[in-house]
Amino acid sequence: MTPKLLVAYATRTGGTAPIAEAIANTLQVEGLNVDVGPIKEVTDVRSYDSVILGSSIRAGNWLPEMIEFMKDNLHQLQNMPVAFFTVCLTLSDDTPENRETVRKYLDPVRQLINPVIEGYFAGKMDFSRLSLPVRFLVKAMKAPEGDFRDWEKIRQWALDAKPYLVGNSITS
Ligand SMILES: Cc1cc2nc3c(=O)[nH]c(=O)nc-3n(C[C@H](O)[C@H](O)[C@H](O)COP(=O)(O)O)c2cc1C
Repeated sequence: MTPKLLVAYATRTGGTAPIAEAIANTLQVEGLNVDVGPIKEVTDVRSYDSVILGSSIRAGNWLPEMIEFMKDNLHQLQNMPVAFFTVCLTLSDDTPENRETVRKYLDPVRQLINPVIEGYFAGKMDFSRLSLPVRFLVKAMKAPEGDFRDWEKIRQWALDAKPYLVGNSITS
């Protein structure tokens, strides 16, 4: 049977959704049966063999709806392969120090579930999509504006993640 995979994401300004879709498309082409969607629309993970969970970062944390979902589905998620991907601006400058900073953002998330593999991606910042107070805040923090998503890196990560999610049950 073709392994069934869920790619679910949390986003505030929409930049993480196309990343989740790129991961899902890559794994679909690889022969997996993949569903992709926002975490708010996921009701159950029991029909899946494995799951990829991704969130953008706000103030050093995954978005609360993703954490809530993990807590609500802890037992199922602890008993299946789960991969994480994280989308943030720190990696608009991809240095070893910045990777370590981003890796630490995930410490509380790893307390809940130990992922089989993690991906860290640069996202995008579009000031026009932020409320005025938030725009003021990020400008004061000198956050760079732009689209830093590296689609090749994202697709390559999906390929790297595949054996951790489906083992040797399917070959490309
Ligand atoms: C209010 C706010 C706080 C943020 N905090 C962080 C942060 O602590 N670290 C970081 O690397 N990126 C931070 N970011 C950048 C976002 O993670 C990045 O823009 C991401 O691509 C947004 O994805 P989304 O559009 O899917 O929500 C922040 C962005 C905003 C608007």
